[in-house]
Amino acid sequence: MEKLVIEGGKPLSGAVRIHGAKNAALPILAACIMAEGEITIENVPDLSDIDVMLDILKALGCRTERRGEQIIVDALKVCEHHIPEHLMSQMRSSIFLMGPLLARLGRVELYQPGGCAIGERKIDLHLRGLAALGAVIEESGSKIVCTAEELTGAEIALDYPSVGATENIMMAAVMAKGRTIIAGAAREPEIQDLQHFLNRMGARIIGAGTDTITIDGVPELMPCSYRIIPDRIVAGTLMIAAAATKGNITLENVCPAHLTSAIHVLKRAGVQIAIDDDIMNISSHARPKPVERIVTAPHPSFPTDLQSQIMVLLSLADGVSIIKETVFEGRFKHVDELTRMGADIRIDLSSAFIRGVPRLYGATVEATDLRAGAALVIAGLAAQGTTVVEQVHHIDRGYARIEQMLRHLGANIVRTSPVTTE
Ligand code: UD1
Repeated sequence: MEKLVIEGGKPLSGAVRIHGAKNAALPILAACIMAEGEITIENVPDLSDIDVMLDILKALGCRTERRGEQIIVDALKVCEHHIPEHLMSQMRSSIFLMGPLLARLGRVELYQPGGCAIGERKIDLHLRGLAALGAVIEESGSKIVCTAEELTGAEIALDYPSVGATENIMMAAVMAKGRTIIAGAAREPEIQDLQHFLNRMGARIIGAGTDTITIDGVPELMPCSYRIIPDRIVAGTLMIAAAATKGNITLENVCPAHLTSAIHVLKRAGVQIAIDDDIMNISSHARPKPVERIVTAPHPSFPTDLQSQIMVLLSLADGVSIIKETVFEGRFKHVDELTRMGADIRIDLSSAFIRGVPRLYGATVEATDLRAGAALVIAGLAAQGTTVVEQVHHIDRGYARIEQMLRHLGANIVRTSPVTTE
């Protein structure tokens, strides 16, 4: 297993370009199977989750090609409706294929994505939405078979603004007969990106970014070219890393409007942020100020995907901060690891009470999931001494070559591979 070895205590400095958004690229790649022809997607990050999605597309009969950050998907010959269980188990986002496969082939067979390190992640809202459009859903054990001779527009009210369910329903509805209205939709920027992509293919969707999305079905979708938005969570992670190391960095290719709540919280912690169009400068010279209360919640509130990272910064603050996690119940797995680095954090149900300490100390810690792993890297960068982060494969799901990105910003970080013997 690969590890990241970090010599902490060096302020980050310099400039780095933010790569494309994983959470936008995954549904958009899945949506490619709805057009019979070659689609070019630009700014696709080089991540293991993207590789799994490409493997699934190939298993369904697509031709895919990667040229750097450009990916070509040709779905002309899609004929397979079964998603292999071993690919399904590697990535929860394989459920994004449900809507598009139903729309294209009228049938999809897949498996429950199963448990997850950050808590129970149900798919009931996805299934209920697809059923409302006319899909017949049969479950036996972990296998799910959805069929639909014809999908028909419907009014669907989501009990919770699930990002994935909103996207799956949007994709299933684009070629359904008539109008679909999703009320209580998620408002994340990635949903707007999906709307822009689908409309570029000829769909008729309005409202993404608000809580009501209206989709007027069209008979077919056309191939197109599209550029993915920058990854707001990667940008937010680096902003927090700059603050935690008392650094001064410039991020290029960012969309500040997608980071409003994170910018607000960082400013409350005393971090200086200057914005010029798609360029952002982040600097910090003093110990962070505590932030009385942060509540993670669906966009535009503070994102759960930055919760573990901001906890590292607040662990170093001059006072007590509270973070309440409302999206994923199990998302405090990084706390034990941070405690071993000297942090003073107490968990009570879904809230973390963080008493700032003057410094963290290097330790060997384990990344338990993607964002927890990123948080431990930030902790290692800020800590005194050497930190070893194990289970790096979690981090590779969402940060392209994180060690190169951070070395570019002056960090002392290397990836080590185990020595293999024949
Ligand atoms: C997406 C993001 C993930 C982010 C999350 C919340 C992608 C690929 N992933 O995940 O990085 O952390 O949004 O911003 O875009 N729920 C149900 N039933 C469902 C679906 C969801 O109860 O059918 C619950 C989940 O258990 C969770 C909450 O809703 O507690 C939020 O989940 P959701 O918004 O669906 O997140 P994902 O789309 O899985």
